[in-house]
Amino acid sequence: MLGENVKSLGKGAWQAIRLLGASLRIQLLAWIFLTLIGAICINLYLSFLTANATANLILDQTLMASARVIAEDVTVDESGAAQIDIPPAALEMFDTGYQDRVFYRVITAWGNLVAGFPDLTESTRPGIGEEAVFHDSPVRLLTLYHPLVGLKQQGDIAVTVAATRSGWTAMRDRLWLSDFSKQLVLVLLAGTVTIVGLQRGLAPVLRLRDAVRDRGRERLDPLSLDIVQTELRPLVATLNDHMERVQNQIAAQRRFVANAAHQLRTPLALIAMQASVAAREADPARREEALQSLRTSTRLMTRLASQLLTLSRAEPGSRRPRSDRIDFAATVRQILEYHAEEALGRGMDLGLEADEQPIFVEGDGTMLREMVVNLVDNALRYTPRGGTVTVRTTREGDEAVLQIEDSGPGIPEGERDHVFERFYRIVGTQAEGSGLGLAIVREVVTGAGGNVTLRDATTGGLLLTVRIPAVGP
Ligand SMILES: Nc1ncnc2c1ncn2[C@@H]1O[C@H](COP(=O)(O)OP(=O)(O)OP(=O)(O)O)[C@@H](O)[C@H]1O
Ligand SMILES: [Mg+2]
Repeated sequence: MLGENVKSLGKGAWQAIRLLGASLRIQLLAWIFLTLIGAICINLYLSFLTANATANLILDQTLMASARVIAEDVTVDESGAAQIDIPPAALEMFDTGYQDRVFYRVITAWGNLVAGFPDLTESTRPGIGEEAVFHDSPVRLLTLYHPLVGLKQQGDIAVTVAATRSGWTAMRDRLWLSDFSKQLVLVLLAGTVTIVGLQRGLAPVLRLRDAVRDRGRERLDPLSLDIVQTELRPLVATLNDHMERVQNQIAAQRRFVANAAHQLRTPLALIAMQASVAAREADPARREEALQSLRTSTRLMTRLASQLLTLSRAEPGSRRPRSDRIDFAATVRQILEYHAEEALGRGMDLGLEADEQPIFVEGDGTMLREMVVNLVDNALRYTPRGGTVTVRTTREGDEAVLQIEDSGPGIPEGERDHVFERFYRIVGTQAEGSGLGLAIVREVVTGAGGNVTLRDATTGGLLLTVRIPAVGP
């Protein structure tokens, strides 16, 4: 139980850290604080080293001065032996109010103790202070070699002076603290200025965030570039571009829905009228006629609804992208077989020119089939009775090519771009239809990474060519 609580607490803390880590402001502040703490630590160490060195220098100078005073007071008596009466000034210079103890030793070159502690050792280098322990107390000691004239044996006398370190420690700490506190003020000042600068620098980013967050869902007008610094303006410009595209898309969707509603309303009104005519008609022949019209209108409605559905499915993002591997040539053949009877009924010559080899393409099989169905349907529908429709499938390099050539009226040059628009039908077109077939074709073909072109056919009608990427050998 406790273990679980600790676990969930740990998880919560980790999540909080990750959230904080995701904030640019916190990241920058964390880096600044880390730098400041690093600077303070280095500062602390360097001031300590400087204070230590300074305190050593001062103590060594005092030791040297004391040794010199002692050495100068050593005299030679009548027997040629050295003797000394230690002058109080030599020891008083250590009286700094910290009860430090001072030890000394004066010996001749041949080892005769003149005064002081016989067990006090000499410093390894003459005139230079060093650390040592004497009678269990840490001390700093220094030895001075001084020539003395008149001794029975010639040679320097060695004066060693050692002092405990309470006064020294106090001095070092004072030096250190005053140095450190000055530098600390400087570091903190620099830190504060950096943080203020950071806050000011980030303010436009936060303003941009608020501007985006606080606008309503339907507001898509461009954001002003002036609210951020120059480096961030490309980001705002990209955001504005994106919003413009969304706005255009929404407008296109609205137009489409309005168009679709309009297209549905007209036949629905017609159906309602035909139904009431049929209901009122007493004459069986005329009633049958009215019912027949009703059936035709209903069929048209159904066709319109299914074309709308196909178009919405063909739009990018409306279906899960599929990559079926299908034999395009076989698909076209099946569709033509399906339409053969209809063509025959209208006395039309529907022909297929294709190799036996399969042509593989990758994509949404259902949508590719819808595309071919719409093209064959158009060719059969707009070509007058007795005409010809020829369908060719070939492979050209990396492309699967579908050509549909008919002997119908063709599409005039000026209309070729428009016929791909939704609900667009050439004025005067007699055959029934909703104007969505070629819009579906274009969506499917561009979705498959291909293209569709219209030309005049040699037979006088339309030559429509679809090229889509093929796969495999
Ligand atoms: N093979 C063709 N020959 C001549 N005109 C054509 C041909 N194919 C299309 N058109 C013209 O292009 C217009 C648009 O065709 P599209 O297939 O988009 O719509 P539709 O056939 O009218 O309706 P549906 O949605 O039922 O297919 C048609 O109305 C017709 O005028
Ligand atoms: Mg059509």
